[in-house]
Amino acid sequence: MEPIMSSPIGGRDAKEHLEQCLHHPRKVVHEEDPLSCPENSVITGNKIRLRKKKLADARNDYNWQTDAELTRLDAVPALTIGFMQYLLDYTWELHFSSPTRHRFAVETLDGKHIGNCSYYDINETKGEAELGILIGNRDYWDKGYGTETVTTLINHIFQQTNLNRIYLKTLDSNTRAHKCFQKCDFTQYGHMARDGYNFVLMELRRKQWQEQAENRNLTGSFTTES
Ligand SMILES: CC(C)(COP(=O)(O)OP(=O)(O)OC[C@H]1O[C@@H](n2cnc3c(N)ncnc32)[C@H](O)[C@@H]1OP(=O)(O)O)[C@@H](O)C(=O)NCCC(=O)NCCS
Repeated sequence: MEPIMSSPIGGRDAKEHLEQCLHHPRKVVHEEDPLSCPENSVITGNKIRLRKKKLADARNDYNWQTDAELTRLDAVPALTIGFMQYLLDYTWELHFSSPTRHRFAVETLDGKHIGNCSYYDINETKGEAELGILIGNRDYWDKGYGTETVTTLINHIFQQTNLNRIYLKTLDSNTRAHKCFQKCDFTQYGHMARDGYNFVLMELRRKQWQEQAENRNLTGSFTTES
C-alpha cells in the first residue's frame, strides 16, 4: 500500500524543491506537486501534530464518516457505502489531490490519529479559504484539542501563505464548535440557511490574527518531515 504515497520526485530534484519551499515559505503551494510544502510537512502545536493524510487513516475516517451523530454535527448525511468501496475511493483521493485544498490528519503528540482538518476552496485571487475540522474521537472532546488544532492550522496558514481571510460555517446549534472557534479569535459575520440547516458564519482576518499574535506567543512551528 505504501507506494501510493511515495513521491515520484527523488534525489537532487526533491532536495532542490524542498530548498525552494523553505526559502519561499509565504507562497501558496499546490497539492498537485507531490513535494508541496504543506502536505509534506509536520506542523507541531503544543498538544497536537498536523501531518499529511495516509492510507492507514482510512479505518478511522470511515468510522467517523459513517457515524450519524458526527455527520449530523457537520450537516452532511452519514456514508452508507461499504469499507472496501470507501478504501478504493480513498486511495484514489490520496493520490490525486486537489490544488485548492490542503488536508491534514490531527494526531496527539504520541501519534494517535484523533481527527482531521483542512483548508479548502482556496481562492488566491480573493486571498481566502474555508476551514474545516473534525475531532472524530469523542474521548478528545472538550479537552482543548479542537482549539489547539484550529490555532495551529491558522498560524500555519498566515505564516506560510499569502491568504488574508479564513472563514467557516457551523450549525447554529453546535455550541461546542462556536465556543472552540471563538477561543481561536473567529468572529461571527452572518447567518446562512441551506438544505434545511441554519449555519453561523465566522471569519478570521490576517490583521486580527496579527493583533492577537502580538498579545500571545505563537505555538505552532513549521518543520519538515524526516
Ligand atoms: C467542534 C470540535 C472541533 C471542538 O473541538 P473540542 O476539542 O471538542 O473543543 P475544545 O475543547 O477546544 O473547546 C470546546 C469548548 O466548548 C465548551 N463546550 C462544550 N460543550 C458546550 C456546550 N454545549 N455549550 C457551550 N460550551 C460548550 C467546552 O467546555 C470548551 O470550552 P472551555 O475550554 O472554555 O471549557 C470537536 O468537538 C468536533 O470535531 N466535534 C464533532 C464534529 C463537529 O462538531 N463538527 C463541526 C465543526 S464545524
